[in-house]
Amino acid sequence: MNIIKLRNYREISFEAAKIIRDQVLLKPQSVIGFATGSTPIGTYEELINIFNKDLITFENVKSFNLDEYYGINPMNKNSYNYFMKNNLFNYIDIKEENINIPNGLAEDVEKECEEYERKIHEAGGIDLQLLGIGRNGHIGFNEPCEEFKAHTHLVELKDDTIKANSRFFDSLEDVPTKAISMGVKTIMSARKIILIASGEEKAEIIRETVYGSITPNLPASILQLHDDVTLIVDEESGKYI
Ligand code: F6R
Repeated sequence: MNIIKLRNYREISFEAAKIIRDQVLLKPQSVIGFATGSTPIGTYEELINIFNKDLITFENVKSFNLDEYYGINPMNKNSYNYFMKNNLFNYIDIKEENINIPNGLAEDVEKECEEYERKIHEAGGIDLQLLGIGRNGHIGFNEPCEEFKAHTHLVELKDDTIKANSRFFDSLEDVPTKAISMGVKTIMSARKIILIASGEEKAEIIRETVYGSITPNLPASILQLHDDVTLIVDEESGKYI
């Protein structure tokens, strides 16, 4: 694992955006995997700055998001669809038809998951996947459990995840309890992975991700087996590594 330790959130956001910029410059038709949550917001702001300076175009980029809440309308302000539009897609020139996010309203979830995998495959696989990490070690919505789930699947969210995500909702009861998420193999099949983490609350899980045993009880630990992972941490989240 390639570890980049920087001073603060601003610096990790710059660094992650720079890696995505270079990927798109090198291969304009790149397939990029995006994440939601608080951590990538700065990265997306910086990507928008880079785009506004005419340094990059997303015209030929295809995107696949890691996950989406299940049972939530894409227009709902808490959907990951809404998040991506408002934090990135509305401000760059990515084509609507090249954006892929699991459909949280799919009636046949199994079919939706299979189709998502098929679309990734048909796009040629993910060139660069951006990841955040949950305090319990989840990546995407692959929650700690007894066995790794390989492909895109429906997940029952853990109580601690529901609680952590309730900060975006009006009340705890409003947080969806299920999500559709890429599986661990889907993520591990990306040619390049960037994991970003910020803040003291991620320090312990980052230590275990880097030095702990590889176990589905800490899904991010599987990243130790990937050939091209860059972990970008600030001083606080990286204080034990
Ligand atoms: C979001 C996702 C999650 C988040 C994780 C960290 O698409 O897949 O794994 O990356 O929950 O979230 P933040 O960045 O809000 O701490």
